[in-house]
Amino acid sequence: MQTDTPSLIDLGRRYWMPVYKPRDLVLDHGDGARLWDTDGREYIDFGAGIAVNALGHKDPDLLAALSLQAGKLWHASNVFYTEPPLRLAEELVQASGFAERVFFCNSGAEANEAAIKLVRKWAASNGRPPERRTIVTFRGSFHGRTLATVTATAQPKYQQGYEPLPAGFRYLDFNDVPALEAALAQGDVAAVMLEPVQGEGGVLPAAPGFLQRARELCDQHDALLVLDEIQCGMGRTGTLFAHVQDHVVPDIVTLAKALGCGFPMGAMLAGPKVAQVMQFGAHGTTFGGNPLGAAVARVALAKLSSPEVLVNVERQANDLRRGLAQINEDLHLFEQVRGRGLMLGAVLDERWRGRAGEILDHAAAHGLLLLQAGPDVLRFIPPLTLADADLAEGLARLRTALAAFCEQVDEAVGDKAPEAAR
Ligand SMILES: Cc1ncc(COP(=O)(O)O)c(C=O)c1O
Repeated sequence: MQTDTPSLIDLGRRYWMPVYKPRDLVLDHGDGARLWDTDGREYIDFGAGIAVNALGHKDPDLLAALSLQAGKLWHASNVFYTEPPLRLAEELVQASGFAERVFFCNSGAEANEAAIKLVRKWAASNGRPPERRTIVTFRGSFHGRTLATVTATAQPKYQQGYEPLPAGFRYLDFNDVPALEAALAQGDVAAVMLEPVQGEGGVLPAAPGFLQRARELCDQHDALLVLDEIQCGMGRTGTLFAHVQDHVVPDIVTLAKALGCGFPMGAMLAGPKVAQVMQFGAHGTTFGGNPLGAAVARVALAKLSSPEVLVNVERQANDLRRGLAQINEDLHLFEQVRGRGLMLGAVLDERWRGRAGEILDHAAAHGLLLLQAGPDVLRFIPPLTLADADLAEGLARLRTALAAFCEQVDEAVGDKAPEAAR
């Protein structure tokens, strides 16, 4: 068996369905905000497995919880009770301040799928015909890849080729209050579903007051407010739930990603209006609330709610913003840095539009793992426990990588320039 890196990558190229385009490296182990590949190269992790590894890699408390549970019971299904998901449900309800009940699943898409079904069931139980069960979502959103959630995701690039798509969704521009007012005035809307900070769509926060207006309109028109906090929740924006900063009480919140900090876990939290709508047999899943995942998530929830972590988010977010501004003073690449807490997006200036992918290549070559949010935005979603030294080193590597990118571009322009102009 060949164990060298190219042979491993070759396995991916030959046997994985080619829906992903991973970098040409194979990650082997991690510690905190650092990762090492199979060739022993070290990276600073500013992507955290797409906002999943919120406590970094190899967190000792997560490891202890997983090991303890692994020695007791791995799986029982929801035909039987086990302790970890029972306790986790209570802890999530208490931490949320609005939810009464929780449905566990294994991913973000499943959590949103459950939310969409709950909205429909709620509308049906109130006697609304199917044509009055419309769910409003927003352009630039991302809610998952199942057929219903990809339809909720108001971005054609994720939908093309999967038609016919399920009916009953209406798309609006994000942060467009008049459009939202007009949409709800049509009288057929059962829910408004949104990310308090759009993630995949470019790290775009809801404008001040937008969620509050959405809440008012939902109340006025008897619709539910569904918040997808799969990426922005679990402390990422500096509070356990992002929406508390918008001063709204939602009806449904979905979580995944950092809920299990790397162990696949999803949850849908349901407030008083909808907590009793789904009864026996209405929904289900084999693995949801798996004791291993729930045991890990209990520790993740406790740690991600702690003042130490939340204060660190705010402090490092300020330092990260400052560092990006300093880099930009010299290199002039970003038009804007936006986002909340440790969910920041550096929007590439007009000249560099579409080149985020190239920048990510340079970053990886300089020992920094970074993500993009579309072709124009560099996305910074590091572990929430990011230490000062890792942030400083990450920024230093970013600066070098961006300088190398600019140099390469200059050279390419130079090569193309006419002789006389050189
Ligand atoms: C806001 C949001 N919702 C839903 C999802 C889908 O989650 P998953 O990939 O776990 O199905 C994602 C994934 O990136 C997300 O960012």
